[in-house]
Amino acid sequence: MAHDDLPALSKILQDAETMAAYEHPFSDEETQAWLDKQFTRYQTDGFGLWAVILKETGEMIGQCGLTVQDADGKQVIEIGYLFQRAFWHKGYAIEAAVGCKKYAFETLKLNEVYSIIRDTNFASMNVAIRNGMTVRGRSTKHYRGVDMPHYIFSAQKGDK
Ligand SMILES: CC(C)(COP(=O)(O)OP(=O)(O)OC[C@H]1O[C@@H](n2cnc3c(N)ncnc32)[C@H](O)[C@@H]1OP(=O)(O)O)[C@@H](O)C(=O)NCCC(=O)NCCS
Repeated sequence: MAHDDLPALSKILQDAETMAAYEHPFSDEETQAWLDKQFTRYQTDGFGLWAVILKETGEMIGQCGLTVQDADGKQVIEIGYLFQRAFWHKGYAIEAAVGCKKYAFETLKLNEVYSIIRDTNFASMNVAIRNGMTVRGRSTKHYRGVDMPHYIFSAQKGDK
C-alpha cells in the first residue's frame, strides 16, 4: 500500500459490516494509524498487509499479506485478509491468501504460516480452510473490553 491508498482503505476499515470481527468501524485516525503500521511493518519485517489490486481496473479492492502476531504466547507469521464488501464472494480473498502462503513458504522459507480467526468469523475460516489450513489451537484476545475467542489455524510446508 502507498499513501494514496487511504481512500480505498477507508472503504474497507470504515464499513461496519466488514469490521464486525473488530467490533467497530474505524475512525479516520484509526485508518491512518493502520496504514502507517503497514509502512512500519514493510520496513522492519520486509512484509505486511499488501494492497490487492484488480488487474482489469487498477482499483485496490482489498488487503492481504503477512504480519507478525501473537498466537497463544508464540510469535508467528499470519496470513490476513480484509476486502471491500463489494468484492466479497468472488474468490479474490482465497486467490490472494494462496499467493501469500506460496510467498511465505517459497520466498521467506517459513515452515509454518498461520491465520488467527475470531470464532464468529465463518467467512474468514472458510478462506483459511480453502487455503489448506487446519485448526491447531485456540486463544482469547481481549480487545475493546470484549473477550474474543479465536481459533489458531495453520498450514505447514509439505501439507497435502
Ligand atoms: C474474510 C473475507 C476476506 C472473505 O471474503 P469472501 O468473499 O468470503 O472470500 P473469497 O473472495 O475467497 O470468495 C469465496 C466465495 O466466492 C465464491 N467464488 C466465486 N467464484 C470463485 C472463484 N473463481 N474461486 C473461488 N471462489 C469463488 C466461493 O464459492 C465462495 O462463496 P461463499 O462466499 O458462498 O462461501 C471477507 O469476508 C472480509 O473481508 N471480511 C471482513 C474482514 C475480516 O474479517 N477479515 C478476516 C480477519 S481474521
